[in-house]
Amino acid sequence: MALPTIRELLNSPGPVAGAVARGWVKTRRDSKVMSFAELNDGSCRENLQVVFPPEGNFAEILPSLVTGAAVEIRGDLIPSPAAGQKYELRAGQIRVYGGCDPEKYPIQKKKASDEFLRTVAHLRPRTNKYAAMLRIRAELAYAVHKYFHDKGFFYVHTPIITASDGEGAGEMFTATTLDLANPPRTDKGEIDFSKELLGKKTYLTVTGQLEGESLALALGKIYTFGPTFRAENSNTYRHASEFWMIEPEMAFYELEDDMELAEDFIKSITKSVLEKCPSDMELFAKFVEPALMDNLRNITENKFERLAYTDAVKLLEPENARFETKVSWGVDLASEHERFLVEQYFKKPVILYNKPKEAAAFYMKLNDDGRTVRGMDVLVPRIGEVIGGSERENRLDVLEKKMADAGIDPAAYWWYLDLRRYGSVPHSGFGLGFERMMMLVTGISNIRDVTAYPRVPGYAEF
Ligand code: 4AD
Ligand code: MG
Repeated sequence: MALPTIRELLNSPGPVAGAVARGWVKTRRDSKVMSFAELNDGSCRENLQVVFPPEGNFAEILPSLVTGAAVEIRGDLIPSPAAGQKYELRAGQIRVYGGCDPEKYPIQKKKASDEFLRTVAHLRPRTNKYAAMLRIRAELAYAVHKYFHDKGFFYVHTPIITASDGEGAGEMFTATTLDLANPPRTDKGEIDFSKELLGKKTYLTVTGQLEGESLALALGKIYTFGPTFRAENSNTYRHASEFWMIEPEMAFYELEDDMELAEDFIKSITKSVLEKCPSDMELFAKFVEPALMDNLRNITENKFERLAYTDAVKLLEPENARFETKVSWGVDLASEHERFLVEQYFKKPVILYNKPKEAAAFYMKLNDDGRTVRGMDVLVPRIGEVIGGSERENRLDVLEKKMADAGIDPAAYWWYLDLRRYGSVPHSGFGLGFERMMMLVTGISNIRDVTAYPRVPGYAEF
């Protein structure tokens, strides 16, 4: 039966006789005359204080109200004399749904390390921090949809199993139904992928962009919001093998329009979460990242710096002593360089654009200089790249040449090339890594802790 949540009870316009609360016991303490418990049902950060009056004869059942036990408490919601809470629940009847062995329950009151909590990812949402993270994540996802919906974008769904390598980087998980111990073979002895269930070799998608482009060239402005997969073996605080990406794609947008949208989008969803989740955000500012609110103000209040790659190289070259990889024109900038620009030099988000074509994906539009492409990355403090995007190469001959240079077989991309044959227009888009955005808004420092069940190299538990 749908009962009010604890969040709703705590926001009740007045006292409620015969209220019912269900949730998990956070703590219980007994004084000489009375007992108290803190109950949480996940609906908000705040617990409902439950008071067990002496006349209730709870002596027998109280010992089973241990940390972690699932209970239902019926009683009266009354104004609380204690500071910091409007109401408390004066217990009348108690039902224990599921007990909990206090010796074995891994979620204890004392603070556990993030590393330990990852090993109990199925229970860590019961901690204040991870519950708050998941509520913020839900709100952030909603903010994404609201942002684009309000701007007339259509939410589209692009395939998760695909035959194309959307980044041309080859970092894909194969999705196969073949018997790996005994795969069917061609006359030449190679694995015969035509025997796949889907009729050809397929992968988990690295991006919805290519299909998204085709939909933008029909609907005008679209966005995707779905899971993407990268098989690169990067064991860092900001790389996951499975992550969610938001990819808007807009017909008739050029690179400058793309950068403007990216900046406005990040500012807008950041503000939404600050506004909608004040209590959960306060937890992160208090206990996770003391500089969080300053960092977020830096994001929402400053105009992002626009920096062309060539100018970035001019700024970085004199600083080469501090870098592991020395910078010169043509070098693909690494995280250390990006963080220097953002954290030390500009001290605010930077949109780095016009990178050398060798360091860029095949689909980015070639500039007239013949050496750089109309790509951009949005770089933010602590995390580095949160957004990668570009104006797309919309000229058939130039795209074919770029693909040939990159060693990409145009036959596999026949449908993508068709978009340049039939009514081609300038168009642009970008991808925001949802987990990196979560790291930005919460101050959480490891991508393993902004998703319920992380998938990273060497780890697929749960
Ligand atoms: O820069 P990327 O690879 O760009 C694309 O996939 C384009 N097709 C997007 C587009 O133009 N439609 O990835 C986009 C963003 C990155 O900026 C980063 O935030 C995130 O996706 N990302 C990852 N997040 C977590 N783990 C990884 N391994 C990631 N790789 C990329
Ligand atoms: Mg990128």
